[in-house]
Amino acid sequence: MRTCNRCLCFTLVVTLIIVVVLSYLLNSIKDSTVPSNILIRQTECNNYSRPIIFIGGMPRSGTTLMRAILDSHPLVRCGEETRVVPRILSMRSAWKKQTVEWNRLIAGGISENILDSAVRAFVYEILVRHGGPDADILCDKDPFVLKHAVYVTTIFPNSKFLLLIRDGRAVIHSVMTRKVTITGFSLTDYKQNLKSWNQGIDVMVKECTKIGDSNCLFVYYEQLVLHPRVTIEKILKFLNIPWVDSVLHHDELIDKKISLSKTEHSSDQVIKPINLEALTRWVGHVPDNVKNEIDTLAPMLKQLGYDTKSDNPSYGTADSLVIENTNNIKRNISYWNERMKQYDRKMSNTTSIASVKTLTVL
Ligand code: A3P
Repeated sequence: MRTCNRCLCFTLVVTLIIVVVLSYLLNSIKDSTVPSNILIRQTECNNYSRPIIFIGGMPRSGTTLMRAILDSHPLVRCGEETRVVPRILSMRSAWKKQTVEWNRLIAGGISENILDSAVRAFVYEILVRHGGPDADILCDKDPFVLKHAVYVTTIFPNSKFLLLIRDGRAVIHSVMTRKVTITGFSLTDYKQNLKSWNQGIDVMVKECTKIGDSNCLFVYYEQLVLHPRVTIEKILKFLNIPWVDSVLHHDELIDKKISLSKTEHSSDQVIKPINLEALTRWVGHVPDNVKNEIDTLAPMLKQLGYDTKSDNPSYGTADSLVIENTNNIKRNISYWNERMKQYDRKMSNTTSIASVKTLTVL
């Protein structure tokens, strides 16, 4: 009995010593690497499992309208295009694709894990700190992010994606008439533009399909503007966000909850209520030498359900709300022209040729 007691005492003392030594070691490691106030900040700020909405698609597909609609929801904050988020994602993708560079990084102690953490922290910091007060649900509108949807879901597991799809002929007409400079697009070559549109949307559709329909939703611009209520209802359901009527009247919150950039191409269009002005503006402007080749140049048009046989396809009949909006805009044309002037795209004269070349969408 006495031997047993002695054994128990000995075990207890040894366990106590081990616990004390281990806790001392753990504390000293923590103290010597990270100050405790920084630890507290990290746990507060870096909540990478927060829901984040990414809005993308080919530029000129209604991405700004989509973000303005979501920005009009009290639980969501999108803000202006960040421009840097798609770039860091492309850079990371380029490092990964170039075997030599990738091996150099690994040899230098920069593991994939470290890179992912750094990219995630960069994107998160930009999203949290730009575009006004924080909200329950963060949202990013940068069209080309959709090219990296699969990767983004790995660094933000609770992210959801809205892929804006618009008739490629309308996208090209918009690019060429509004002189929007996008890498791969020309301001004069319609054929080249059809190919570039096809290539870009093909990648995005594949990425969206890979992450599945519970994470990525196709949003057709035509359906959004013809039937805003049912389309937005579907979008909010997909995002698990409750319906609020303000999403049908985003124009009333411009410069209140919704802030617009003076350098973005769509600001002077998105100030208006959802309307039909842009729906068929492209009709009658497809060059003759392209008409017979459309399905070869841009097979994605047909794949996405667009009628490529017709020069004037029917997208459907508009809801009364958008017909009223469109008629009101026509009736008050001088008011809208004045308002649009305030949002005219203002670019600094000092933008140098070198910096212009590095930009994706100007
Ligand atoms: P057009 O250039 O054909 O007029 P993005 O923001 O992705 O670049 O898309 C721009 C397109 O969205 C523009 O097409 C623009 O007219 C359209 N758009 C913007 N605001 C809109 C609104 N309130 N109602 C309908 N379409 C709108």
